[in-house]
Amino acid sequence: MKKFVTPREIIENRLFEESGNLILEIGCGNGEFLVQLHEAKPDALIFGIDISNFALRKAISRIKNLKRAFVTKSEGRWFLTWIVPEGTLTETYVLFPDPWPGREKRRLIDENFINTLAQKLKNNGSFFFATDVEDYFLSVKRSIEKSPFFRLTTGTDAFYTKYERKWKSMGKKTFSLSAEKVESPPPGHFKVYLNKPIKTSIKPSTLEKLKGLELRTEGNFFKILEVYRDNGKFLLKTVFRMKNMGQKQFFRIENGEIDLLPVQLEIFPDPLFRIIKSLFG
Ligand SMILES: C[S@@+](CC[C@H](N)C(=O)[O-])C[C@H]1O[C@@H](n2cnc3c(N)ncnc32)[C@H](O)[C@@H]1O
Repeated sequence: MKKFVTPREIIENRLFEESGNLILEIGCGNGEFLVQLHEAKPDALIFGIDISNFALRKAISRIKNLKRAFVTKSEGRWFLTWIVPEGTLTETYVLFPDPWPGREKRRLIDENFINTLAQKLKNNGSFFFATDVEDYFLSVKRSIEKSPFFRLTTGTDAFYTKYERKWKSMGKKTFSLSAEKVESPPPGHFKVYLNKPIKTSIKPSTLEKLKGLELRTEGNFFKILEVYRDNGKFLLKTVFRMKNMGQKQFFRIENGEIDLLPVQLEIFPDPLFRIIKSLFG
């Protein structure tokens, strides 16, 4: 079975809903830890996600003979919010994520992440986190202590990954924590649509003027960054931001229809779908 599964395939095949014991590692890097999980959890379906093609290639070659391990390319917050159904994860691991020194706002884990994770874990599901950066550790610990949905537990601190080895060999201290989900938040509104063309009657002369167009709706932000034209076909480079996450997306407009470029995630979060419908539908 192929080891690389797209977010669209996860949704279409209801892969997460149908799995009893589902473990997600966000930022799985070279896949070493996926192999350890596969060995340690014989009845679990194990998913690793990462944004780097380079890392994913290594992970795929590591897990190629493992029956229950798969990887996906996606941004972690986006994936957790839009692709993972509520109440499906048994365990989630984030090990040595990029700490973004000086640009801490870009960090993967903040209070929004913790709240979304509470939505996606099963009751009594677990979260494991490790880092070499003390202030990242403390901020994640504080977010968990503040959250009514989690309690800190005394989990393992043994995560054998490339970065764990790297920091230890440099004599750096590492920090880790684990937490259990103890209460469910109210259900969220995480509806997504699979990409399919939407009819549009927008004129080429209007399309050409859309570069720079910005829309703000209910805390969401959408902007058309570039408009490219070739022989009557258009390509729009856009960005959509919501809470703590953002995603660049390319739309093509051809033969009176608009859709996402197939290289993209191929799913529309509900708020983005509504924006596209209102602008072009
Ligand atoms: C420092 S490495 C750690 C890799 C592995 N967990 C380890 O401990 O060896 C961070 C990994 O997270 C990935 N990454 C960074 N930001 C991400 C994001 N927002 N969503 C998903 N993956 C991300 C990077 O591509 C990289 O592979």
